[in-house]
Formats: sequence, C-alpha cells, structure tokens
Amino acid sequence: MTNLQIFLDIATEAALATGVILQDYLGKVEDAITEKGRPGDLLTAADKASEKVILEILQRHFPQHSILAEESGKLGDQTNEYLWAIDPLDGTTNYAHQYPCFAVSISLVIQGVPQVGVIYDPFHNELFRAAAGLGATRNRRTIKVSKTAELNKSLLTTGFAYDRRETTDNNYAEFCHLTHLTQGVRRGGSASLDLAYVACGRIDGYWERGIAPWDVAAGIVLVQEAGGLVTAYDGTAINIESGRILATNAYIHNELSQKLMQISPLSSW
Ligand code: IPD
Ligand code: CA
Ligand code: CA
Repeated sequence: MTNLQIFLDIATEAALATGVILQDYLGKVEDAITEKGRPGDLLTAADKASEKVILEILQRHFPQHSILAEESGKLGDQTNEYLWAIDPLDGTTNYAHQYPCFAVSISLVIQGVPQVGVIYDPFHNELFRAAAGLGATRNRRTIKVSKTAELNKSLLTTGFAYDRRETTDNNYAEFCHLTHLTQGVRRGGSASLDLAYVACGRIDGYWERGIAPWDVAAGIVLVQEAGGLVTAYDGTAINIESGRILATNAYIHNELSQKLMQISPLSSW
C-alpha cells in the first residue's frame, strides 16, 4: 500500500467518525451557537466536538505531521512537509439551521500541494475521496467532471465570505453577471461540497473569494483527480493561501476565467 493510500484511509476514518458526531448533534446545537467575530460566522458545539475527534485520530497516527485546523488554528511547524488542513464542519450556518448541506473536509497538503482529500456529507451519506494519481471517488465509485463545454449551458456555484458586509469586493457583482450568462448560479453554503459537486459532475464550475485553505484543500484534489482544473481567477497556478479559487470541469475554464477577470465590484449597497 502506498503512503498516499494510507493517508487517504486514515483521513477517511477521521471523516466517518466526524460524520457520526455531526449527525448526533444535528438539531441539538441551538443553545451552543456563538458568533466568532464577524456577523453570521457561527461556532457550534458540533464544530468543536468534530475537530477534537479528527485531531485525536490524525495525531495518533501521524504525530510527526503538522495541522492547520479551522477551530484550533496552527498546531506544529507550519512549514512541515506534511500539513493537514481540516474543516470539521463546512457549512456551519446551514447546520445551525438544519439545512442539509454541510460536510467535514480533511486534506493532507504535502510540500504546499494538496495531495489527499476526503469530504464527507453525513446527512446524505456521501463520501468523496481522492489522492494524487489515485483518482476520485464518491462512495467508492470513480467520479468524473461534467462535459459541459459552454458557459451559457453551465450550472455554477459560488459562496460569500463572512467579510461581505465590510468590502465591495464581496462577489455580489460576479454573482449577478454570471447568473445572467449561465443556466444558473447556486450558493450551497459549503465550499467543500461545492468542489465535490464539481468533481462528480453535478456542477460545471465554482469560484469564490475569501476562502481558507481548510475550505478548499480537499476539494482541489477531488476536482483535479476527476479531470477538472483548479487555478487562480486568472488561470495561473492555484495558491491555497490566496483566498481565491476557480475550479471547473476544464472545458469552461477559460471562458469563466475571462469573465471573472472582466467584472468589477459593485460600488456600494
Ligand atoms: C464557509 C462555507 C461557505 C463559504 C464560506 C466558508 P464554514 O465555511 O464553506 O460556503 O461561502 O466562505 O467560510 O464557516 O461553514 O466552515
Ligand atoms: Ca469552511
Ligand atoms: Ca467550518
């Protein structure tokens, strides 16, 4: 068994264990919801309990690796060759409202490049897995991106970061323009599932600004291994620290990139 396969299997163990916790807490977190600073940026007891379980499993198996986890922050040397990027609950707002679009996202970033990705949606029991060179699967079956080749025939998804009320660079203009140019733009509320849906062909493209490495690292591996393309908005190499991402089925990539580069922010609301 290759090392990547071992990392993938342990990440899967952690994601499935988290899924049990997320299902257990669903509908029971009302009293334990706090805001993390920005309006709408929620923290529930489920986020904390999930992250605890993931850390316990990963640290037991890989004590020499470092971690970047949404709720615990940076654990260990962040320049470590092996860095786990963890979002214990991606889609917390949905979760708090019992809107069934949320997941746990776990990725191993090796020398700055996401190489293992596991995203698990416990509500729908959908397990998305990928590792560099090993392909991408949904519930253990190979997945591929869609074949939609024109933007005007595409279905896209995006998201809005928690700083959206503080900046005009809040993605509202892009959302409006692309809604006009496509068959639709969805806002699911879980960046990791947005990427998993690109990987399995339900969605043709996804873009977002204001995202963190733990939101997208696992999904990047999935999209790439399913035959898609992930870059910066301008088509150059993706940097998971940059906060911006464009992920597509590859066929509509240039067209969507060009449009994103042309749209200027709305002046104010
Ligand atoms: C958020 C979700 C959302 C995206 C935000 C993320 P969280 O993550 O992925 O879809 O638009 O930018 O912060 O806070 O639910 O883990
Ligand atoms: Ca997230
Ligand atoms: Ca989260």
